[in-house]
Amino acid sequence: MTTDQEAFDALIAAEQRIEPRDWMPDAYRKTLIRQISQHAHSEIIGMQPEGNWITRAPSLKRKAILMAKVQDEAGHGLYLYSAAQTLGITRDEMTEQLITGRAKYSSIFNYPTPTWADMGAIGWLVDGAAICNQVPLCRASYGPYGRAMVRICKEESFHQRQGFEILLTLMQGSPAQREMAQDAVNRWYWPSLMMFGPPDDESPNSAQSMAWKIKRFSNDELRQRFVGMLVPQAEVLGVTLPDPDLRWNEETERWDMSEIDWDEFKEVLAGRGPCNAERQRNRRTAHEDGAWVREAAAEYARKQALLPEL
Ligand code: 3HC
Repeated sequence: MTTDQEAFDALIAAEQRIEPRDWMPDAYRKTLIRQISQHAHSEIIGMQPEGNWITRAPSLKRKAILMAKVQDEAGHGLYLYSAAQTLGITRDEMTEQLITGRAKYSSIFNYPTPTWADMGAIGWLVDGAAICNQVPLCRASYGPYGRAMVRICKEESFHQRQGFEILLTLMQGSPAQREMAQDAVNRWYWPSLMMFGPPDDESPNSAQSMAWKIKRFSNDELRQRFVGMLVPQAEVLGVTLPDPDLRWNEETERWDMSEIDWDEFKEVLAGRGPCNAERQRNRRTAHEDGAWVREAAAEYARKQALLPEL
């Protein structure tokens, strides 16, 4: 008689999907709730840095593109919250965890966006890093998560391309525009490398997540892949990646790079980044200001339920 654990292990070994109704170890469920809810929070909080420029975009076309992108991020958050809910956590619980500061979201969204060029750097670097991290997640062993990633990755590639195009336009502009673009790349490059998580030897979740085929590659492997993608694109843009030690090592077949400032990473994760408090406050205010909508929708649903079946 096959035990539940043996059946689960066989599905994982056979590269099969685990679905919500399948038996799964509590620890697998817990890890997925942790990662998927944090991923969803990241998408929702990630709307703020870019939302900052919707009313100040330099043209109607740029405004329309940016609005579409921010709207996409909201949709990504909803897909991911829905995927997390299939594991038994409610939307209210996840929202409460976020607005009370108990939930993590990606460190990258705690940095300010002082110039329009930040919209280009976020698209090119942050969405570019997201693509490197999210494409393998399309093959995550948990069905709802992998399937949500397929749609998200298609939209993410549009996000990355529009960011690249903003930077290319600036780099083909005046000296001041070129300087603005380079300044934004200087500010976003290192935080985008931190998106992939701590070094592999300081990543407590990676080994188990990879054994369960949630995570397909390690943090450092994806970071290397991302840098390898950036180098030729930076040349086309004419921007300089702000790492004087960055070079391809023929011997190790890896990118040598300067040490990432992991103290900064830890500070941001501890809530002491440049914009953590502001992001938290904005999300909490949006939730409080939206209470009347939720109440009205609930009252409407209650009244609908009282109507006789037609
Ligand atoms: N920001 C915040 N927390 C981070 C982090 C980051 N950049 N990198 C790692 N952490 C946290 C982890 O959550 C973990 O804490 P926890 O155990 O309390 O959850 C701790 O640091 C140790 O890290 P590990 O490497 O052990 O953790 P993971 O195995 O979970 O790996 C991860 C971290 C690579 C971020 C992984 O969780 C992951 O791939 N998540 C899904 C993708 C995601 O969330 N991306 C965030 C950006 S979303 C985005 O970019 C949207 C786009 O539209 C712009």
